[in-house]
Amino acid sequence: MSDMKILVTRAWPKEAEDHLVAQGLGDVTLRHPDSPMSKDEFMAAAEECDVIMPTVSDKIPPEFYPAASGKVKIMANYGVGFNHIDIDAARENGIAVTNTPEVLTDCTADLAMGLMLTAARRIGEGERETRAGDWAGWRPTHMIGKKVTGATIGIVGFGRIGQAMARRAHYGFGMRVVFQDAWQVPDDIKAQNGNAEQLGSIAEVAAQADFLSLHMPGGADTYKMINADVFNALKPGAILVNSARGDVVDEDALFDALDSGQLSAAGLDVFHNEPALDPRFMNYGNIVLAPHLGSATDGTRVGMGYRAIENLKAFLSGDTPGDLVT
Ligand code: DGY
Repeated sequence: MSDMKILVTRAWPKEAEDHLVAQGLGDVTLRHPDSPMSKDEFMAAAEECDVIMPTVSDKIPPEFYPAASGKVKIMANYGVGFNHIDIDAARENGIAVTNTPEVLTDCTADLAMGLMLTAARRIGEGERETRAGDWAGWRPTHMIGKKVTGATIGIVGFGRIGQAMARRAHYGFGMRVVFQDAWQVPDDIKAQNGNAEQLGSIAEVAAQADFLSLHMPGGADTYKMINADVFNALKPGAILVNSARGDVVDEDALFDALDSGQLSAAGLDVFHNEPALDPRFMNYGNIVLAPHLGSATDGTRVGMGYRAIENLKAFLSGDTPGDLVT
């Protein structure tokens, strides 16, 4: 075994942790108990570790990168999103970064479908009413929701997860799919993913959408991209679904849109400043609140660990990792 020091910042599923240790890549620290790393721990890791395997909820201080220069060689991230890592600072300080795409595509799209259905059909509200013993019985006007089958879904971000959402919506629920992406999507990809129609802007997508589902990456380029202009462009009574990143939505504008009825409901898996939600969320029974569960299935979370390990092994053998973030 090499004397390479490898730190995993948060607990992984045991199968993935065991697989990492079994590779014999070095001296592995599986950091337990499972709590967020402090700034001091990151600064200590910058001086002590050759490899860091961080994850999407880590708060990495800016000072970490220069301090890690010449010591940390790779951050093999557990997660597809890497907006918690300053890629420029990593590059400037000679630190490679990898992520874990593909393995979580289906489960994240499944969760987004669940949020859409739950918000549209008021399942969360109904569950709370039933559990509280307040259900007064079936009646024609009780808890009327919004029909999903045959409606139009607008997708922002037509990467792997956006495409998987389009397939579920179109082939499963007969929905028309319109989408926005800066990338000019080839016709065959559109045809294979629900005959999706690419429109020129998010506002154009919003104007046609009964449901708006977000699948773009987080980070500076998409920060608060879903703002008052987008909400105002929506069909009145539309429903927002966000399984991407919290900071792509302007939450003040979201609450305004719910208050005005521009949005009738929302299904959200991600928030600004997770897990400390804006307390206003608690005032809205028509928002489905999920605690960042997109990839949270047994096989997927193990698969994410395996994928991070594959990337690390490639890097340590001198190959280019399959998921190098460039
Ligand atoms: C990711 O990998 O970026 C996801 O948000 C975790 O579910």
